[in-house]
Amino acid sequence: MRKKEGPVEVPWVVLKFGGTSVASLAAWRTIAREAAGRARDHRVLVVCSALAGVTDRLEHAVAAARSGDHGADLAAIRAAHAELAAAAGLDPAGPVLEPLRAVLDEAERLLQGVWLTGEAPPRLVARVLAAGELAATRLGVAVLAPLGVEARWLDARQLLESAPRPLDPDERRYLEAAVLPVQAPERLAAAAGDARVALTQGFIARTPDGDTCLLGRGGSDTSASLLAALAGAETLEIWTDVPGLFTADPREVPAARLIRSVGYREARELASLGAKVLHPPCLDPAARHRIPVTIRCTPHPEMAGTRIEGESEAQPAVTAVTCRRGGTLLSLATVTMWDTPGFLARFFAPFEELGISVDLIGTSEAAISVTLDSLPGGVEGRVFKRLLAGLEELGEVRVIHPCAVVSIVGRRIRATLGEIAPALTAFQERPVHLISNSAEDLNLSFVVDEDEGTPLVRRLHDLLFAARGDDPRLGPTWERLRGPPAPAPAAPWWERRRGELLALEADGRPRYVYDLATVRERARRLRERLPSVGRLYYSMKANPHPAILAALHAEGFGIECVSIQEVEAARERLGAGAPLLFTPNFCPVEEYAGAAARGAELTVDGPQLCQDAPALVRGRGVAVRLDPGWGAGHHEKVRTGGPGSKFGLPPEELGALRAAVEAAGGHVVGLHAHLGSGILEPAAWPALARLLASLAAAAGDGLEWIDLGGGLGVPERPGQPELDLDAVEAGLAPIAAALPGIELRLEPGRYVVAEAGVLLVPVTQVRRKSGTVFVGVATGMNSLIRPALYGAWHPIVNLSRHPAAPDLFAQVVGPICESGDVLGRDRWLATPATGDVLLIGNAGAYGHAMASSYNLRPPAEEVVLS
Ligand code: LLP
Repeated sequence: MRKKEGPVEVPWVVLKFGGTSVASLAAWRTIAREAAGRARDHRVLVVCSALAGVTDRLEHAVAAARSGDHGADLAAIRAAHAELAAAAGLDPAGPVLEPLRAVLDEAERLLQGVWLTGEAPPRLVARVLAAGELAATRLGVAVLAPLGVEARWLDARQLLESAPRPLDPDERRYLEAAVLPVQAPERLAAAAGDARVALTQGFIARTPDGDTCLLGRGGSDTSASLLAALAGAETLEIWTDVPGLFTADPREVPAARLIRSVGYREARELASLGAKVLHPPCLDPAARHRIPVTIRCTPHPEMAGTRIEGESEAQPAVTAVTCRRGGTLLSLATVTMWDTPGFLARFFAPFEELGISVDLIGTSEAAISVTLDSLPGGVEGRVFKRLLAGLEELGEVRVIHPCAVVSIVGRRIRATLGEIAPALTAFQERPVHLISNSAEDLNLSFVVDEDEGTPLVRRLHDLLFAARGDDPRLGPTWERLRGPPAPAPAAPWWERRRGELLALEADGRPRYVYDLATVRERARRLRERLPSVGRLYYSMKANPHPAILAALHAEGFGIECVSIQEVEAARERLGAGAPLLFTPNFCPVEEYAGAAARGAELTVDGPQLCQDAPALVRGRGVAVRLDPGWGAGHHEKVRTGGPGSKFGLPPEELGALRAAVEAAGGHVVGLHAHLGSGILEPAAWPALARLLASLAAAAGDGLEWIDLGGGLGVPERPGQPELDLDAVEAGLAPIAAALPGIELRLEPGRYVVAEAGVLLVPVTQVRRKSGTVFVGVATGMNSLIRPALYGAWHPIVNLSRHPAAPDLFAQVVGPICESGDVLGRDRWLATPATGDVLLIGNAGAYGHAMASSYNLRPPAEEVVLS
């Protein structure tokens, strides 16, 4: 009698390993360990891809075989297998590897046939490409044995049979076959016998006629899912070279977080919208049979990965931000569409005829827009031309290419709009061509110009996920998972002056240190690279240190001041000759009087001054600060344009204000506007310049200058591109040329001082609490409030140990009694000891200037290095 716990009763698990996960001995050790571990209480079916690169080589060999040139590809394929065999201590020529040699010999024979006949029909191509998986699994069985795992080799073609449709062309029948998911554990049991571990191929199946067919590129995941369904497996694990699905593409957004768990439909949506980890249709068989799927990382088996299962979908959730590039937006506008039944059918007819599939759709009564994800032959190709010709008969066609589809993915997205709303500020100033909410309510997608894709994803991700602290569905950030970063390429000034900085810190007190040479260098850079700007003003609010004011005055900068105290300080420090511009906001009228008395130019953004102190305006040229109607900048709190902002005069009120100024006996001498702070997009200033230039006539004949404000950003994180000053200049030059006699001005703050300053903070204690390491430092948000206020990111290094490699993942926190007192979240540091000095970079702008004595802790003092 059979015992109840006999092999047939034991549930299966299916483990699938992709190309890079089967290409090295280290990877096979992981396979052996995982298979052996699971085999204690399960039967294990291991599904393998071909060794990394082998399928591409085989494809190439097929093409090369027509001219008999497939030898090099085959030799490379044999070498890759031989190398792995040798690494595993196997003799590539020995009897154990006879089955492997047989597979490769067979592939060679088939390729010879292509050479002889000059033909490579799909049926034969399938057999050649199948050799990759067959070879990997033959070798795999041999590699596993000395690692302690006796695995039975199974031919996937015995397990999976395709279901071709009668009219399928051979390409589809043999190279892109579909297999219907069925549950038939007896089929697997019959093939596997009593083996506890079996090894089989992804990607391949058989046709009803018994020929070899393929499931299409990326089809190995689908094989694994079909095999899991067939086995009625308890779980399916897909092992790959990344730790799972992330809330954004980690290559673009290092702060992307691992998604710990997600529903099948969302995961499929993520895969089809750009996450490359999974082949989109692969989840369907597992989903249909309710088999949980886990994505695991072969190089890091200790990581839990992403679990995909039939989660409760009752709860709305935002899960990720994705981006697909290279798309095409096509719009048709027509008057005949109005109320014409069948118009949409006529619109779509040429798409069907030409085999072009449509992705997103937006319709109105007189227009329709669609996006095309993949276009046979591209936008220059014949197929697209024919499509356009067909559509032009119906109305006016507009094409935008290339565009990107940026999607917020989750479930019940329509119910998350309240949560998403603040993040939509990311779209300010970025033209959106189409918005679409998927019919299944799994995404909200925005079609934008292609080069807007990456900045938008970063911004949206930041706004949607930065504050999602303890969400149990989300794991650590990519930054944390990937380990310490490589050192930055360009050596900053503080590296050269490390000795001086550490000597300064001998007394263990926190300090801001400024390098005047860097300030001067940035000032010259702006002067030289922006020749269209007639005069530069330094916005002293960024850092009013007297030595910095003096250095910039010496570089020919005027000073922009926003309070009477700034005016007084600048005048006192720089003497009577320094040009000062007073640009206050909601300040008492007396401050204007004080500023005027000290020779500053005055900027107004409303009629108040003319009404309350017309004597100040009489005989004077005043400037008008305008609200351009939009803003820009690194954070919502620093964007200063738009109807909700307290700054500036709406352009339509310029005429009335000019009349008020003139009635008081003055005239308008300048137009001023400021978009915000920390802008890295070079088009921002030319766009503003165009607007102000268009208002020049309304300002009257006395107009002498146009000031485009400040806001020039510096990269925050490593890898972020610098502001392209040449692009700013290229945008401004034609505008300046069209405004003879009118001076263009800029008033940067951050750009000139941010990178010139560092904050040095001694470590007070290093403490681990519930798995989190906190590095405490002597000062916190009282010295540098930017991280707490804007979520700003400042680089942090352990200067005492520099350039030792970072090896500790920690939270850098100050002594202030607020949980927001974190100077650096999720940072890699060379492990510090108490007394080490940490350097916080990019701290020259809005650092000390915004410091306070909160908790009665004095902020870090300032030191200038000349
Ligand atoms: N002009 C005006 C009228 C301004 O309001 C500002 C900055 C500037 C020029 C200089 O902007 P910059 O070139 O430095 O970006 N505390 C924030 C920045 C606030 C900026 C306020 N206005 C931060 O730490 O990011």
